[in-house]
Amino acid sequence: MANATQAKVALITGAARGIGLATAHLMVNDGWKVALLDRDADALKSAAAEFDGKALDLLFDVSDPQAAPQAIRACLDHFGRLDALVNNAGVADFGPIEETDFARWRRVMETNLDGVFLMTQAATEALKDSAGAIVNIASISGLRASTLRVAYGTSKAAVIHLTKQQAAELGEYGIRANAVCPGPVRTKLAMAVHTQDIIDAYHDAIPLNRYGSEQEIGEVIAFLCSEKASYVTGQIIASDGGFESTGVGLPALRK
Ligand SMILES: NC(=O)c1ccc[n+]([C@@H]2O[C@H](COP(=O)([O-])OP(=O)(O)OC[C@H]3O[C@@H](n4cnc5c(N)ncnc54)[C@H](O)[C@@H]3O)[C@@H](O)[C@H]2O)c1
Repeated sequence: MANATQAKVALITGAARGIGLATAHLMVNDGWKVALLDRDADALKSAAAEFDGKALDLLFDVSDPQAAPQAIRACLDHFGRLDALVNNAGVADFGPIEETDFARWRRVMETNLDGVFLMTQAATEALKDSAGAIVNIASISGLRASTLRVAYGTSKAAVIHLTKQQAAELGEYGIRANAVCPGPVRTKLAMAVHTQDIIDAYHDAIPLNRYGSEQEIGEVIAFLCSEKASYVTGQIIASDGGFESTGVGLPALRK
């Protein structure tokens, strides 16, 4: 059993930038220790430098089945415990169904879905010891279908169901599993696939009329990792400015 008097430890994947990095900062401010995992060596190095040597940087690719056990071992060797796993690493590669060849499909699935499965499986033993938490980062695209997201949207819908599987099976060990579905956030991932037209259309379609920030998503992730959410498991929480709730969300119907 993990010692209740020590600081808790979170391993955050895809933590070199964007939502993962913002979440790491919020959790450190809340008293957590963090392990930052990413496959982008340069970005990971500069992200780790923001934590004055107190964060552990783990250069791994979550889609590599060999990597997950090694990353968890490195985290346990360094910190001696693991209390939260944030499966945030993701890639967006949008395209029409007819142009999504199998290689493109696999490129999305291997990170967005396989990575969540592999990392969680490798972390389960350590999370049993701490009665810890899993937070999977899905997407509004996993809740609502749209054009060009045959691989991305399907990967995120699968992550939503995987979260429920994890909650159902790991609950008896005291492990909680929840998912956060961000709406659009101006990160490198989103800006690579959002044109100005898309940005304007999102503003119109979202009740709060704006993109979210990395910190706004991170706050929900940090809450779900924390003791404040100790009776919350198997839940899918959209942090999306109301986008998912709007049903027939035509801007013309709002006037
Ligand atoms: N930004 C958005 O609008 C948005 C909306 C909905 C969901 N999301 C989800 O939020 C998560 C974070 O996205 P972001 O916008 O901060 O993106 P980002 O591109 O800014 O950051 C993602 C990080 O993940 C890392 N990464 C990617 N594949 C990896 C792999 N196989 N192994 C290890 N690291 C890997 C990247 O190197 C990068 O540092 C993703 O799962 C994404 O799908 C983002």
